[in-house]
Amino acid sequence: MTLEIPNDLAIALEAAGQAHLLGSWDGLNEGSRRNLLSALRALDLPQIQKLGEHLRKPMEHEAQSFEAPITFPLDRTDEQLTHAQKAIDLGESLLSESKVGFVLVAGGQGSRLGFDGPKGMVPVGPVSGLSLFGWHAARLTAAKQRFGMRITWFVMTSATNNGATRAFFEEQKFFGLGSENVHFFTQEMLPALDQEGRIVRTAPDQLFLAPNGHGGTLQALRSEGMLDLAASLGIEQFSYFQVDNPLVRPADPLFIGLHAMAGADMSSKVVTKNEPGEKVGVLGLADGKLGCIEYSDLPESLRQERDPDGQLRFRAGNIAVHMIRRDFAEQLTQDGQLDLPWHLARKNLKGIDAEGQVAEIPGVKFETFVFDALGAAANSVTLEVRRDEEFAPVKNAEGSDSPASCRLALTESFGRMFEAAGHPLPERNADGTLPIEVDPRAAENADEFCAWIDHLLELQRPTTPTENGWLYR
Ligand code: UD1
Repeated sequence: MTLEIPNDLAIALEAAGQAHLLGSWDGLNEGSRRNLLSALRALDLPQIQKLGEHLRKPMEHEAQSFEAPITFPLDRTDEQLTHAQKAIDLGESLLSESKVGFVLVAGGQGSRLGFDGPKGMVPVGPVSGLSLFGWHAARLTAAKQRFGMRITWFVMTSATNNGATRAFFEEQKFFGLGSENVHFFTQEMLPALDQEGRIVRTAPDQLFLAPNGHGGTLQALRSEGMLDLAASLGIEQFSYFQVDNPLVRPADPLFIGLHAMAGADMSSKVVTKNEPGEKVGVLGLADGKLGCIEYSDLPESLRQERDPDGQLRFRAGNIAVHMIRRDFAEQLTQDGQLDLPWHLARKNLKGIDAEGQVAEIPGVKFETFVFDALGAAANSVTLEVRRDEEFAPVKNAEGSDSPASCRLALTESFGRMFEAAGHPLPERNADGTLPIEVDPRAAENADEFCAWIDHLLELQRPTTPTENGWLYR
């Protein structure tokens, strides 16, 4: 019996303005018909209709007023130093009681990088070639060693990379963390629309689907059972970070403690913006609401404005590192009610036209952003951190924010550890990197490195020389 279009589906698609999706039906074989039907059945047509309405709406309301956030600065008064010490103590105890769970977002497509596979597989260890995933795992293992804590790692993927990500973790034996401690969850995919609000197809039986943005993390934590799992494990706080930055410190007692002491719902780390033109979002208040103000949304005069001490007024560059209270995530997502604004990415999409020919279709992808949840937070801490110690993302294939610039930033941080321990720096490689790598399980900062190196010397244990340099682990 040949497969036919169910009547209810045809009516629903027609009513939603999506009847074109059935346009190639007659020419499809059984297998393709089955594919198409399952893709169509999975669609949330009322939601797609709402997205279509966004296309027709006039430009979003532009904010009238902008304010810089109050940050916990790097340059601290005596009072802030005392507060920071108390925060570190609290952060350490929350970690040692395993009340912090780790959320890595790795569902993006990494299109700018052009790497064939999940971005987390990109090798960035300057000597070891350790992958981004491996790097994060090493930092979590370091936290396990330091705080005697149980590591619970929630890894968000999307349909674009879920299989490959899981296979990589299996192949790497879960980096020694134990498969029972790593919990994959997947975010939703959304169809891209053309300018008339019609769903774009990549083939007669395939829809153009894209991940729904990192704002989708919150809903996916709920729908994939991660919030319940976290509650059952006694996890009260989530440490949220992106896959692209190997310098991130997911288990930072200061950040965790400041956030918890303030009773904050969601908190952020920032670095000082390099110069007014640096294209990063800044944390700030737009019309009194905390969030991340996109570079293009901040008026030029404010981008240039300086405080009396000469620093940029809007300098709190977003590095996408957050602490999120578990019950805040629960509150935001109860009854499937997460209500974050949609961000529209307009671009030419490779799809098929009405005749089924491959074409560049002017289209729109829809995403929500996790930092838009900051506006709903009753309290929030914004902690300033050192860029050279905590931010070296991999975004582009070459130039700034590339694997090469990331490796250089990593070796610079190891070089600072060497200098602090009174060790001479070895000669640089031709690309400017130092031929050294310090594994996070050995040391993550200069103090730890000094202590570890002394211990190493006492043991008379040599470091590991490799073809690419010296590996300290
Ligand atoms: C992001 C921030 C920017 C910040 C910068 C710091 C946005 C819009 N901007 O920029 O303010 O300064 O990081 O590095 O986010 N991801 C998913 N699912 C998705 C989309 C993304 O998991 O649907 C993950 C990616 O895997 C990645 C992270 O989110 O880990 C960042 O996504 P990306 O689109 O690369 O953000 P940026 O534009 O680089």
